Amino acid sequence: MLSQDGIRTQLQSRKANFALSRDLYCDPGVYQTDLEQIWYKEWLFAVPACELVKAGSYATLQVGDYPVVIVRGTDSRIRAFHNVCRHRGQRLCAKTSGTVTKLVCPYHQWTYDLDGKLAWARDMGADFNPAAYGLKKVHCVDLGGVVYICLAEVPPAIADLARTAATYLAPSGLADTKVAFSSSIVEKGNWKLVIENNRECYHCGGSHPALCRTFSDNPKIGAMDGPQSASPEILAHWERCEAAGLPSRFVHAPDFQWRLARIPLLNNAESYTMSTKAAVAKRMGKMPFNDAGSLLMYHYPNTWNHFLGDHAITFRVLPISPTETEVTTTWLVHKDAVEGTDYDLETLTHVWLATNDEDRQVVEENQKGILSPAYEPGPYSPIQEEGVIQFINWYCDSMGKKLTPSTSLAAE
Ligand code: FES
Ligand SMILES: [Fe+2]
Repeated sequence: MLSQDGIRTQLQSRKANFALSRDLYCDPGVYQTDLEQIWYKEWLFAVPACELVKAGSYATLQVGDYPVVIVRGTDSRIRAFHNVCRHRGQRLCAKTSGTVTKLVCPYHQWTYDLDGKLAWARDMGADFNPAAYGLKKVHCVDLGGVVYICLAEVPPAIADLARTAATYLAPSGLADTKVAFSSSIVEKGNWKLVIENNRECYHCGGSHPALCRTFSDNPKIGAMDGPQSASPEILAHWERCEAAGLPSRFVHAPDFQWRLARIPLLNNAESYTMSTKAAVAKRMGKMPFNDAGSLLMYHYPNTWNHFLGDHAITFRVLPISPTETEVTTTWLVHKDAVEGTDYDLETLTHVWLATNDEDRQVVEENQKGILSPAYEPGPYSPIQEEGVIQFINWYCDSMGKKLTPSTSLAAE
């Protein structure tokens, strides 16, 4: 198991634009450090806000060792708490989602209001002060329809992303959407392999026949260096969309932790369907035309999203172990769209259910190869895998900055 010094040495000895070492993908010490330095410190995508339909709707998730519950209050605000009872530590909500009027601990029924205050505890004596035993808060923000949480005591700045997401997501009308379908799968691979796989389409032609009907695997689609710098096709798409009121140009964090950009689908396709036509008749938000393409949004370490004219798809990645990762995909449609009338669930979900399964297979085979002692990091393609290079650079730079220098180095 690698120590922090060992991890720093491996990060520093990585060849530029090459994949990570076997240890950096598989070692339990690296996994623990990833949890502590990234997953417990960064903002993480948790759920689409519309999943919490009304006051008392809740969803739970597990981030490393931390069970978290996210709940919509009677004031409509979404809050997150550690999903741990303040009495003797029972996990408060065991289900992945549900609706309650209060949060009641199943062990001895301590009862919490939806804002986390302890409202009732039986026979605790005259000196008991319920105000001291409210649920512990987790930072929580709704970025225009997508809810992020942060476990750090002092979370990193999120104002830039919040402002950008509010502007870019507004035309998608996420406040008026509902969950049409959700799927959670476990991929037997390290979380970084899951993100790497998402950040390139070098593998798309060989793996994703359904997705490739509508999604271009041309690397120029992803090669966007800035709001004015992209292929003529993309620049023309941005101009057309922005003239119609859709913020579309590439925008990113200085360290590329996140990026948003609207890309055209292949041959004016409308949606990720086998027919290339919209899957949902009732359209979302204020999309001015059917072929506005897909607004892509990623945020490291745990999400990528597609916002289309007829539906949106959110992806949430959560690490389970050094070599297991949960991927939850959620399809959103207009809240008034009726299944069977406005959309057919199989048509809506076919392409990405297939794509997720294909990605699961490549990630699992990737992990199996990397577990071999014969594995040696290979070079990324500068033409096809720029997104992977940028993710791995983000990972190595942010881990490098966060890992405390060893005593010997500090003494020098
Ligand atoms: S542990 Fe929750 S009420 Fe006792
Ligand atoms: Fe893929």
